[in-house]
Amino acid sequence: MKSYFPKDFLWGGATAANQVEGGSDIDGKGLSVSDVYIFDGDMPKEHWTDQWHMMTHKQVEEAQDPESKKYYPKRHGVDFYHHFKEDIRLFAEMGFKTYRMSIAWTRIFPKGDELVPNEAGLAFYDAVFDECLKYGIEPLVSLSHYEMPLYLVTHYGGWPNRQIIDFYVRFAETVVDRYRDKVKYWVTFNEINCVKHHPYVSVGIIEEGHPHIEQDKYQGAHHQFVASAKATAYIHRVIPDAQVGCMISYQLLTPYSCDPDDIQKTVEQQRTSLFFSDVQARGYYPAYAKRMFEEKSVILAIEDGDLAVIRENPVDFISFSYYMSSAVSAHPERLESAVGNLITGGIKNPYLPSSKWGWQIDPKGLRTALNQLYDRYQKPLFVAENGLGAEDTLASDGTINDSYRIDYLRQHIQQINEALHDGVDVFGYTAWGCIDIVSASTSQMSKRYGFIYVDQDDAGNGTKERSKKASFDWYKEVIASNGANL
Ligand code: BG6
Repeated sequence: MKSYFPKDFLWGGATAANQVEGGSDIDGKGLSVSDVYIFDGDMPKEHWTDQWHMMTHKQVEEAQDPESKKYYPKRHGVDFYHHFKEDIRLFAEMGFKTYRMSIAWTRIFPKGDELVPNEAGLAFYDAVFDECLKYGIEPLVSLSHYEMPLYLVTHYGGWPNRQIIDFYVRFAETVVDRYRDKVKYWVTFNEINCVKHHPYVSVGIIEEGHPHIEQDKYQGAHHQFVASAKATAYIHRVIPDAQVGCMISYQLLTPYSCDPDDIQKTVEQQRTSLFFSDVQARGYYPAYAKRMFEEKSVILAIEDGDLAVIRENPVDFISFSYYMSSAVSAHPERLESAVGNLITGGIKNPYLPSSKWGWQIDPKGLRTALNQLYDRYQKPLFVAENGLGAEDTLASDGTINDSYRIDYLRQHIQQINEALHDGVDVFGYTAWGCIDIVSASTSQMSKRYGFIYVDQDDAGNGTKERSKKASFDWYKEVIASNGANL
């Protein structure tokens, strides 16, 4: 295949602190919103993802009880906290040019409203970045990846409270000052558009019994836009050659049929995601937001200066996660839904296969997505997440033959190559969960994405030993050939 990948293309992998690190009771770390999720094998499967969407007051309360006997997988991750040197060495062996990771806010400000940061937390990330840089791996840091301090939810009500802007900005400024010589690429909020579907983990609202959820979701999002713009301004001031990105979950939506109602509904639904990158990339609320807010009875409290700071600080690049596409119908009651669909609960597309978790696999959709986003913004694009969650089997000889994952990744990377040929400016690709980690939506360990297998089960049992899967050597060759050998 002729490769259109530029020679400095940033190949790599991605994780998030709350899914990989563990060590949640070490060195002063506080509890984050993600540390509250349990894994309960007795829970019916269809509720695993629901749990992520909908948090209850009781769960939050129980999770803060030091006597709780429940298993909270995201407090344990895969113990990257103690294995990072080994893990980064393996990333380097694959030839990673970049590693996308997040800084756990709760390691730096355990409750979120402190004035003085936790030195032990800062020192940990110094060590992680030094390890990356030792191998020439450029860190790309998400400041917030579903891991705001739980205390800011229980004591301040989450992002609908304007005070959170200052706490976030203090956190951002602290880490930017500390790592200014080590980190050039920053993302302010992971999947900022996902507040629509899981407001607890995105903006810290407990939906149960909430009287005006839509209002608070968008008020929280407005505060995130302001916070993101202030962080962007600061990063640009302190690190002159820094690149700051927004990050959305981009699930390509296609009309189920050529019925004009299906087409109109698709446009409207896709805009509910694009709304977020529209604000962050262009620097202003799009015209269609007025009607969208009217129809949701949302009236935003916007203070003097908010719109100016958003306008003056648009992001430099657009990053996004892409796992699947989904069909949209104006008459969904007549059709089968795409099962287990994390993001929008769309309609099953009869042309596409699905993963075991019901995520519809659509590699060509990635080319379309890249073209759509580039046509819309003309800003550099970064594929921040992509991958196949699957159950892997460790054979008795210690090998793991994940040929299905290789197929998935190959087909998606081929489509990035097509998009590059189309003229789209894509500057990097980080495969999600480059090492097996705890699933965000189901808290399972058995939904694996990695090139590196971790010996750990859903209940946290196992040696945590790392082994290379077949995809490890495959990805190494992809990187070495700059995308020519797929
Ligand atoms: C994205 C998140 O939504 O999807 C990641 O940014 C997450 O945190 C990834 O892990 C895959 O989802 P899951 O539920 O399979 O882990």
